[in-house]
Amino acid sequence: MKYLFVLGRNIELSKAEVLTYFEKEKNRILNYNLIKNGLLIDLENEISQKIVDSFGGVVSVGKVLAFGNSKEIQKKLDKINLYSGTKNKLNYVLWNFSEGYETIQNYLKERFREEKLKATFKHLTGSIKLQDGETVFIPSSNLIDEEYFVFGKKEISFGKIISTCDYVSLEKRDMEKPFRRESLAISPRLAKILINLSYVKNDEILLDPFCGVGTILSEALIRGIKVIGIDKDKNAVNGSIENLRWFKFNSQNYELINDDSSRAKISGANVIVTEPDLGETLKKIPPRKIAEETLLRFENLIVRVINNFKGKVSGRVVFTSPYIRIGKKRLKCNIEKIVSSTGYKMIYEIPEYRENQIVGRMIYVLGK
Ligand SMILES: C[S@@+](CC[C@H](N)C(=O)[O-])C[C@H]1O[C@@H](n2cnc3c(N)ncnc32)[C@H](O)[C@@H]1O
Repeated sequence: MKYLFVLGRNIELSKAEVLTYFEKEKNRILNYNLIKNGLLIDLENEISQKIVDSFGGVVSVGKVLAFGNSKEIQKKLDKINLYSGTKNKLNYVLWNFSEGYETIQNYLKERFREEKLKATFKHLTGSIKLQDGETVFIPSSNLIDEEYFVFGKKEISFGKIISTCDYVSLEKRDMEKPFRRESLAISPRLAKILINLSYVKNDEILLDPFCGVGTILSEALIRGIKVIGIDKDKNAVNGSIENLRWFKFNSQNYELINDDSSRAKISGANVIVTEPDLGETLKKIPPRKIAEETLLRFENLIVRVINNFKGKVSGRVVFTSPYIRIGKKRLKCNIEKIVSSTGYKMIYEIPEYRENQIVGRMIYVLGK
């Protein structure tokens, strides 16, 4: 079963998210191949159309309908139904992750002409700027009836997009919740990615020891994961309570504690997923000394918190940390020190930042 995952702006992070997800779901990955922001995965089992909602870093998911070299592929396409609608007029796009793009584009034109369909090829006019600076194109209109894709070099895969992330509802939900704290909150999309990187399973317990107004908690609860949230700020805990009630989650599935996470007590959890304080929101690039002091404070805090909970948490620890721009470079925390002071091993270290952001994030995934 071959599927295409069109990844969001941080390819490295989204790729890690998708691969970890299938590993956790025990849907074996037989093979995968990355071209630009297209990740083609050969999976042992079928996936549901709604799977796109499980990810924070996936734009669209497609299913491969035919594959083969440039000679074989056209013969294979002749045997399959390409248009599933009932009107005899359609607009379509062709996502491009292949050198075989033009051959397929011409094939589609010819095929629709033969089938007497008034088919209009539309260009991808929307765009995403990837973290590495490259721009990739996406559909910008919702007047598209079919989205096809072509992927691969020697072996070409052709398929159809089966679902697309509904960013509009995701953002609407985030904006409408009663308690918001824009400057400190993490986006629901990044929260989903961190949750997936933690390998947490449904019904397990996730601990967020710096829960703020509860973005990570609510994204986990939506997935059927139980949560414990801790924050030393009473207002933040009250904000979390209001937000989780607004979502109408079953209150037996969450616990909120107003305490300092370097000494708070919990009965047990499976994973930690959190965004601690990343230091001040800086408007100007700081001197190296200030950046180093911020990082040192961060390291000391995260070590105290991990050590406080490590006896009670069986699985992974996923956290963001400050990634501070000084001149053209960025400084990150001393992960070797964090790892050696807590007894964990590093699984992933992935940067997440925007070009003009002074304090970006370095994301760490630690395991025992
Ligand atoms: C970056 S914010 C977390 C934002 C959160 N992810 C959200 O979406 O609202 C960090 C939070 O950590 C809390 N905090 C800082 N030090 C703490 C500590 N030692 N124990 C518990 N909470 C702490 C702060 O009060 C703040 O709410």
